[in-house]
Amino acid sequence: MASEEIVVVTGASSGIGRATVRRFAGPGVALALIARGREGLEGARREVEQAGGRALVLPLDVGDAEAVDAAAQAVEDALGPIDIWINSAMATVFAFLEDVSPDEFRRATETTYFGSIWGIQAALKRMRRRDRGTIVQVGSAMAYQGIPLQAPYCGAKHGVQGVFESLRCELRHQRSDVHLTTVQLPGVNTPQFQHARNRFPTRSIPVAPYYQPEVAADAIHWAAHHRRREVWVGVPTVYTIWGNRLAPWPAERYLARTAVGGQLTDTPLDPDRPDNLYGPPPGDAGAHGPYDEQAHPRSLQAALARHRRAAVAAFAAAGAAGAAVAAGAFTRNGG
Ligand SMILES: NC(=O)c1ccc[n+]([C@@H]2O[C@H](COP(=O)([O-])OP(=O)(O)OC[C@H]3O[C@@H](n4cnc5c(N)ncnc54)[C@H](OP(=O)(O)O)[C@@H]3O)[C@@H](O)[C@H]2O)c1
Repeated sequence: MASEEIVVVTGASSGIGRATVRRFAGPGVALALIARGREGLEGARREVEQAGGRALVLPLDVGDAEAVDAAAQAVEDALGPIDIWINSAMATVFAFLEDVSPDEFRRATETTYFGSIWGIQAALKRMRRRDRGTIVQVGSAMAYQGIPLQAPYCGAKHGVQGVFESLRCELRHQRSDVHLTTVQLPGVNTPQFQHARNRFPTRSIPVAPYYQPEVAADAIHWAAHHRRREVWVGVPTVYTIWGNRLAPWPAERYLARTAVGGQLTDTPLDPDRPDNLYGPPPGDAGAHGPYDEQAHPRSLQAALARHRRAAVAAFAAAGAAGAAVAAGAFTRNGG
């Protein structure tokens, strides 16, 4: 099938990766699904096939560079040349930095940082040969502004950002048509808040306001098909990134005051529950976390960001109409 779109998604079994798989799934799309947990991957495969697409399940650990490269080759052998590679896999440790063991820090970094790098390299190697393809990094406002209780994760997100900047320069130098894009997300209601390692006795929660995974998946799908360097999703992403750029000191004070308590609930956590740092959690987590009632199902900011020209034109037209009405009133009032 020459016109089939070949898409790889890491972290395909849960959360934003899973919602992204659903967003892409349909006739004419073949999806390669990467994560460790077979139950979640098989659930994702069924969803792709029900939507009329093809799926290839590749259970592996993204911290293993050779396994990621072998998976990329398996995708090309089984499905065809990779058009889009999406890095969504992640692991985190909710804790004060002083309470994170070196091994936990290393493990979270192997997944969230190195897992992304190995994915980028595996995709790049193949896309460069053909001089086409898009790599989508699922990023976070925390790639700009670190927050308390998430040092390994924030460090990894900052790190990938730096690698992407280097690679962008290299691709420009090589006059390559391979495209890189990052989708910077706000808090999203995903199962990570149930299965991530957590040093606290109660369940964690994304920093409010937060969104449903479909909002992220729509932005990722859009970014994969347009030539935009970065896509920012949600008003919180905009004020977090600009807050860090313009006023880092007040931003830190604000986060120190609000973001420790703001990431923890009163819901007790079973201390013996399996978490996802060293292996996949049991079962099929799906896309949504436990906070459906509070999560925003849409983002007007994200829609406007996708259609910047139309949004600017609409605002300009509204401004001009407002000015005309004001001028008319002024004239009628004899001003
Ligand atoms: N949720 C948020 O608030 C939020 C905000 C901003 C950005 N993001 C970004 O969204 C992306 C997904 O996060 P999420 O919230 O959807 O998390 P999630 O629900 O916990 O999903 C994480 C995914 O990564 C996979 N994974 C974890 N460790 C792995 C490993 N060693 N090898 C292979 N796969 C592994 C998991 O599958 P297995 O356990 O089956 O391997 C799962 O599919 C991340 O890049 C994150 O930075 C999330």
